[in-house]
Amino acid sequence: MVVELDAQHDLPPPLQRAKPLHQARLAPPFDSYLGPLPEAAGSVPSMMSEKERQFLFNIAKNYYRGAGLIIDAGTFLGASTACFGNGVSENPHLEEIRARWQRPIVSLELGITNQQMLLSFKRHGIGHDLVAGDSFGPLIENHVRTVRDLIDLRLGDILETGRIEDPPKGRKTPIEILFLDVLKAPAISKFALSEYLPRLIPRRALVIQQDYLSGDLPFIHIHQEYFASKFEYVGEISSSAVFRLVHRITRDEVAALFENTLDGETEISLVSRAVQRSVDPYRRLIMAFAKLRTILNVRGPDAAKQYLAFIESEYADQIAQQQFRRVQNVVRAARYLCEVGAGADNEREAVKISTGHRGTDHRRTDIVRAVEKVSP
Ligand SMILES: C[S@@+](CC[C@H](N)C(=O)[O-])C[C@H]1O[C@@H](n2cnc3c(N)ncnc32)[C@H](O)[C@@H]1O
Repeated sequence: MVVELDAQHDLPPPLQRAKPLHQARLAPPFDSYLGPLPEAAGSVPSMMSEKERQFLFNIAKNYYRGAGLIIDAGTFLGASTACFGNGVSENPHLEEIRARWQRPIVSLELGITNQQMLLSFKRHGIGHDLVAGDSFGPLIENHVRTVRDLIDLRLGDILETGRIEDPPKGRKTPIEILFLDVLKAPAISKFALSEYLPRLIPRRALVIQQDYLSGDLPFIHIHQEYFASKFEYVGEISSSAVFRLVHRITRDEVAALFENTLDGETEISLVSRAVQRSVDPYRRLIMAFAKLRTILNVRGPDAAKQYLAFIESEYADQIAQQQFRRVQNVVRAARYLCEVGAGADNEREAVKISTGHRGTDHRRTDIVRAVEKVSP
């Protein structure tokens, strides 16, 4: 008997092609936390992608158990807080969560308007009466108002507002979800890691590093990868990398990172480890800019030029895709930096090029520069 193959039914469906720089790749069961997002969580203006928001909402709704706090650091207009707040409000364990935590979500934001933010407010038709230097706290309040009772909103510099109070008898307040989009300077990263990592609950706590799949902030890679043996890599969504804590991190272990300056070669190998995390060659190319900067600072201009030659050959296919502006900007920035050499001003200019001259967007550069002075 001859069986006629019906092309419509017997062929598997076409594979969904991963979208460079935007794909979400999460290890099971975390891939199931990319479900739908309610309007209240999805409508707040944000720099996050839809999928990043879906993840935050769905882990707050279905993964979070209330074993620890949710820390949302660098919420800007409150989009991440709205995702967490709406997620927790739909969590089946809401009653237990509320019994344990008066306000389970600690939301941290400087809340001071800068010029770049004003442009973004204008685009979204909000904050018409604000000028640079004003507080945009009222906009956050408005965006999270329906879930406000779940949120401990702290406006101000995280170095002053970000401490977590502990119960008596030497116990530490635990953290179950840590969302970081505020690590714009090494001193902020040092503060956040020292304050929050020792509180993470082993085998449960998630750390979402929103700036990870970029090349602009190499110290984030260095600090996170220093603790690589403590975490497992859950995966990536847009610019975010997600890690789950496996082994407890002690205060002494974090202190050791910041007390003993790492040697340059160790820094290079830690950034390399970060670059290799991603399954997406476009993301690896963008993160290679962080490695190039580290090589330039540690080994000097000749080694940086050699690494640039490697990038240009290894990622020739990706660089040839002119439509990816971010990729083109990063390559231009890398070439620029190899030409002008090391130095804080050159790096700042290169980062501006890499971000399409949005280099200081939403970063309080005055604070960033001030804290850089005290960074290791
Ligand atoms: C990249 S934005 C966050 C974007 C946000 N997650 C979103 O998706 O819309 C970084 C935020 O960190 C805040 N920030 C920068 N330095 C800070 C500091 N020292 N303390 C608290 N917040 C800070 C900025 O005001 C800014 O809103």
